[in-house]
Amino acid sequence: MDNIKGIVLAGGLGTRLYPLTSVTNKHLLPVYSKPMIYYPIQTLVEAGIKDIMIVTGGNNAGDFLRLLGSGKDLGLRHIEYAYQKGQGGIADALRLAEDFADGQKIAVVLGDNIIEKPIKKFADKFRKQKEGARILIKKVDDPQRFGVVEFRNGKILKITEKPKKPKTDYIVTGIYMYDSKVFDIVKSLKPSKRKELEITDVNNRYIERGQMHYDKLPGFWTDSGTFESLLRANNLVAKKAAL
Ligand code: DAU
Repeated sequence: MDNIKGIVLAGGLGTRLYPLTSVTNKHLLPVYSKPMIYYPIQTLVEAGIKDIMIVTGGNNAGDFLRLLGSGKDLGLRHIEYAYQKGQGGIADALRLAEDFADGQKIAVVLGDNIIEKPIKKFADKFRKQKEGARILIKKVDDPQRFGVVEFRNGKILKITEKPKKPKTDYIVTGIYMYDSKVFDIVKSLKPSKRKELEITDVNNRYIERGQMHYDKLPGFWTDSGTFESLLRANNLVAKKAAL
């Protein structure tokens, strides 16, 4: 089975959380008992992915090194860091991981995504997948905040980023698995209306090629990039800890 390298994206300026993010990076804020960044790292470690890169940015990049060090305490075998200037988008941050990926398959987790259950079985399916991409989708109450999935005959037809009138309640979570072609796709992207390189555009390219696979993510999932979702993340993790 193929080896997968892990990438946690923790760049961006976290403007939706000002003033919490005025002097620190969003991914260092607490989610119940741990800094936010611990959770996406744990997601990768539990999937057997222990060779990871953290892409960060902003003013406090050095704090990640102070917090995570060699990554050994978190169960990592190897950790590398990259610095994203500005907030050019998720796909722009991903671009910085090309040399680290070194032609191998990758699993990307957004630094503010928190989940309940291990994704090992989905990562294993991807390990056996010959080529293409694999995403994890979830039914939510507020799809207009995310990349919304439309289906035809059980396959994904397309993904629309933050539509005003979502066609379904299914959204793309911030857990993406790609073959090495992803970096060529990223290089061909044009910035969106919000002046970002969009991960949704990357995913739509794989869909157009007939190379996008998906699974439904079990258990809870939340982002934590707004006051409401950060509070929800804290409550969900606290509840899980109390079980
Ligand atoms: O959480 C899942 C959603 O994440 C998806 O459903 C959407 O399709 C996807 O576009 C994204 O939506 P958001 O607009 O909520 O993403 P946000 O800008 O909050 O960025 C999420 C994480 O990505 C952030 O915690 C760190 C990383 N990021 C983001 C940007 C804009 C970077 O590393 N660099 C960046 O420039």
